[in-house]
Formats: sequence, structure tokens, C-alpha cells
Amino acid sequence: MESMGALRRTHTCNELDLASVDQRTTLMGWVLRRRDHGGVIFIDLRDRWGVTQVVFNPEISQAVHAKAHQLRSEWVIAVQGRVARRPESMENPKLATGAIEILVDELRILNTSETPPFPLDEDVEVSDTLRLQYRYLDLRRPEIAGNLILRHQAMQAVRSYLNDHRFLEIETPMLTRSTPEGARDYLVPSRVSAGKFYALPQSPQLFKQLLMISGMDRYYQIVKCFRDEDLRADRQPEFTQIDMELSFVTEEDIIDIVEGMITGLFATTRDISLSPPFARMTYAEAMRRFGTDRPDTRFGLELVDLTDMARECGFKVFRAAVEQGGVVKAINAKNCGGFSRKDLDDLTEYAGRFGARGMAWIKIKEDEWQSPITKFFTEEEIAAMGRALDAQPGDLILFGADKTKVVHQVLSELRLELARRLDLVPADAFNFLWVTDFPLLEYDEEEKRYTAVHHPFTAPNEDDLPLLATDPGAVRSRAYDLVLNGSEIGGGSIRIHSPAMQRTVFQALGIGDEEAEEKFGFLLRALEHGAPPHGGIAFGVDRLMMLITGSSSIRDVIAFPKTQKATCPLTDAPSPVSRKQLTELHLRPDWKEKN
Ligand code: AMO
Ligand code: AMP
Repeated sequence: MESMGALRRTHTCNELDLASVDQRTTLMGWVLRRRDHGGVIFIDLRDRWGVTQVVFNPEISQAVHAKAHQLRSEWVIAVQGRVARRPESMENPKLATGAIEILVDELRILNTSETPPFPLDEDVEVSDTLRLQYRYLDLRRPEIAGNLILRHQAMQAVRSYLNDHRFLEIETPMLTRSTPEGARDYLVPSRVSAGKFYALPQSPQLFKQLLMISGMDRYYQIVKCFRDEDLRADRQPEFTQIDMELSFVTEEDIIDIVEGMITGLFATTRDISLSPPFARMTYAEAMRRFGTDRPDTRFGLELVDLTDMARECGFKVFRAAVEQGGVVKAINAKNCGGFSRKDLDDLTEYAGRFGARGMAWIKIKEDEWQSPITKFFTEEEIAAMGRALDAQPGDLILFGADKTKVVHQVLSELRLELARRLDLVPADAFNFLWVTDFPLLEYDEEEKRYTAVHHPFTAPNEDDLPLLATDPGAVRSRAYDLVLNGSEIGGGSIRIHSPAMQRTVFQALGIGDEEAEEKFGFLLRALEHGAPPHGGIAFGVDRLMMLITGSSSIRDVIAFPKTQKATCPLTDAPSPVSRKQLTELHLRPDWKEKN
């Protein structure tokens, strides 16, 4: 190993081109590839910016050439030399530096490297665990490094937009009290207060509301949030939000600001020009047409409601579903009448994963409706279904009959699966959709009480207030989500700013006065001290970057992500701690022995 000594880097590995020919240059970076060609050694030298070919020719320096023989993949070197035009046959138009090479007369080996556990210069399949274990090497791969660079640019664009719109960036605590966003908390035991715990924030929700009460007027923060929930392809236990809150605003003001921010973001990162206003749809319409509150509107295959027809029909499965208060809905899978028995069995199995107890189907032929269930319907019923579904010869109809929730879950997933199989999703389309008028409350069958659909600080729609006492589930809230290509990228609401209204909503959630005081007394106190009308929204940065970069996993846009099991193969977190640490935290260290 040698020191850099007096050598100073003059260029990056993506900078030199024909205009630089004959200049002297000093480059530093990693050995990506080494090729020996009849006495001349070629190295592809890599840094964050790109790759430059450097050449060790014994005719230039015998000693340097001899030294270059030692070089191996991922060694760290400094080279000095002259920029030369490559022989024509050796130009590489794919590289920004592909027309030149460096004729090296000075080489310093700054560090050696073990052989990497996976090649960094090829697109080979590497297990996720191995990639995460050697994440620092994985991040040397241009694709994944590119995601981080784009993420940086995106956050710069967001900061600059929000700064221009007079937002203040203000930090809020990480060691705090639990904020209910619907997930389990990560808890941190207190050493100083025995038996007490901090919670890591699921979001800065209450602090940003307090900042509005402080008169900060416009707040934002790009902030980590922590939620202990079951992980999915688009979920991480710690993730980042662009979190914002504004005073003296309505939904329209917030939507307006956000559309500007997102438009700027797409222009900066993808050179895509979006044209706001984005489409909007009420929650009720989204559920009716797509069976989900985050519809992917890039393709059709909408749900058709056949409940009325099914109520009196001869097919027991459908009638029973309606009699039990459920629904019958169907999707017309256009031109899928040729699906084989196996295709249908596979789809039925897929539907089963989302709770379907079966998946009735009908193939529309020129002269008949082919299906085991056709015999249960009258000609009028068949004609009515045909009209409702716009059924044409060659089509395939898939049915869901069950409780509304199950049918929506099943058919919305089937819809996505069909679109994937039929390749209906246009590449490079970005469909934004505001979903509005969410219900305020939803009945939790397990807990036997209402819970907040968004969070308990969301304002109810004033028109629906009388329903709060009589039909709480029907009250609409002032919450909105922004959906992009079927993924929820952001959500927010106008908040409650009256302490009396906040107490009323707590009551509707089964949070009594005592519990409200105990858990949220500080918020109620603050609301009693001149809270302005306010509202806000938070975006999932990781999800947003996943969509912008076209990544299939949320991990590909996070420098050091966790596995599906919320572990970190690099640091081996979470890890056992010493008995002494546990004792200091007033935790009984005997759980291991007990288990
Ligand atoms: P919400 O809970 O909807 O709202 O979160 C906002 C956005 O954060 C993203 N998100 C996640 N991303 C990755 N992994 C997760 N586990 C995860 N959970 C959520 C989603 C989501 O739209 N305080 C409110 C916002 C507000 O009312 O202003 C909140 O946190 O993209
Ligand atoms: P069965 O009478 O159970 O043989 O069902 C007849 C057809 O109806 C089969 O194709 C089943 O897959 C389908 N089926 C059964 N239950 C449901 C349901 N809840 N929703 C939709 N289709 C169903």
C-alpha cells in the first residue's frame, strides 16, 4: 500500500474526452476490469461518476507496467498520465470517455481488496442477503448507485421547491411518545425513568400540528419514521417521509402546492413534464369501480356490480352472498376466453390467497356462454349480465361473491394479476390520482370498536357531523391520498383544530376522557391555546423513488435497507445485548433462560 503523497485528483472517471487529448491528468478510483493484451495492460478505472480506460505500456514505463501486473479487481489506485485518443477500432461509444484513454506513467496502489463475493461489473443474480451483507460493494454497482444519486437530486428538488414556497424545515424528536398511525411502535427503554419507554415516531404528526399552533405556518421535514408492521415489497420498518403541514389552508391549497412539488420532482429526475391538476376520485367511487382505495388507473378491467341481478338468481352461491349482506361483482377479462383449465385453476388459486372461496367464471363463445354455472341463470339474467359487462365473444368473466370487503380484496388483486398476465400496463405511464372523501372511521371486527381510517386527528366532513351519533361508519373525513400507478405515495388531511371536536372524535373511537387526557392531554391543551385551522400531508420517499426509478423492490432505493424480517445482514442488527445493559435499562435479563 502506498500513500497519495503529493498526488491530487484532477478529474473524475467520467470527465475526459477528445477535447482533453494531450492534457496531463491524475485519476483515482477502483479497478473494475483488467485486460492483458500482448504486453499492454488495460484497466477500466471506476469511480462514482463513470469509467475511464487507463493503459500501462512497457514502452512508456517498464517499472509502472511491471507494477500494474499486480492489480486485481476492486483495488484502489491513483494513476497519472497523458490523455490520448484511442485507436479507432478501440473506441467505445457507450462510454462518455470512450474515445480516449490514459497513457499512465505513474501508478500508486492506495489499497488492495479481497476478491468481491459477487462480480460488480456484470448483471448477475445475487441473493438479496449477500447483497445486503456486502452492501458497500453492492452500492458500487452503477444501477443501484444511480438510484441513490437520483434520490439525492429528488430531495434537492423538493427542498428547493418548499423553501421557495416559504416552508421552514424543522426537526422533531425521535425519542418521543407513541403517535397512533396504525402500526406497532418501536420502543426504547428509559435508563433514567425506570419502567418507562420512549416510542420512535411512526410519523411527526402531533409535533407538526404543534408547530402550526406555534405559528410556524408552513413546516416540512424529510424525516425517518418507524413502524413495526409486517413487511411487504413496498414497506420498510424505517422509511422516509417528506412531511409537511400548513396553516390557514383548505384541501385545495394543499393539493395545489403538492402538485407543483411533484411536477418539479418529475421534471428534475426524469425530465418528464406532468400536467396538473391530477385526476381525482372519491373513495366511494374507487371502491366501487376498482375495489381498492389505491386504484391503478393505467388500464381498464373495472369491477361491475351484479348484486341486484344476483339477489334473485338461481345460483345458490351468489344468492347466499347477497342474502348475507354481501355483494356479487365481476370483471370482464377482455379476450381471455381462450384461457385453459389450468389458467383458470391458477387464477382461482391466486384469488384464494386473498380470501376467495371460489372463482366462478364464464367464457363467452360465439353461440353460447360456456361455464359450469350458466345453467343456473335465466336467459334474461344472462342478457342483463352481458349488457352490464359489455360481454363480447372471446371474453372471460370472473366473479366474486362474498362480503363486500372480501370481494373487493379478491377482485382488485385479480385485476392487477390479469393486467400483468395480459401485459396491459403501459410502460412509462405515470398515472396520478387523488383519492378523496375517505371514511373517517372504520369498524374493527376484532376489537369491536371504530378505528380511525387515517388517524384520530383528521377532521370530519362538516356535512356529515349529524351521522357521527347515528351511523359513524358513514361519516366522511377531510383526508386525501395521492396514488401513483396503484401505489399510495402520500396521504394527509385537514386536521381537527377545535378541542371539543377532538374530544368528540376520541369518543367515537372509544377513547374515553381519561384515556384521551392521559395519552393526548398535551395536544388537547395545545388546541385550547389558539390553534389555527391547519392541514398537511406526508409522502413516502422510498415508494416514490421506487416508482421514479422503476425498481421492483423498495430496498433498491435505500442505502442500507432491512430484510423482509426487519434485520440488517450488514451489521447483524438486531443483536443481543449484555446483561449489564439490560439491567441498566431496568429490564429483567432473564427472558432468555425462560424461553
Ligand atoms: P401515512 O401513514 O399515510 O400518513 O404515511 C404517509 C406515506 O408514507 C408512506 N409509508 C411507508 N413507506 C414505506 N414503508 C412503510 N412502512 C410506510 N408506511 C407509510 C406511504 C404513505 O402514503 N402523519 C400522516 C401524514 C399526514 O396526515 O400528514 C402519515 O404518516 O407512501
Ligand atoms: P360450487 O357450487 O361450490 O361448485 O361452485 C361453483 C362455481 O362457483 C365454482 O367455479 C366456484 O369456484 C365458484 N364459487 C364458489 N364460491 C364462490 C364465491 N364466493 N365467489 C365466486 N365464485 C364462487
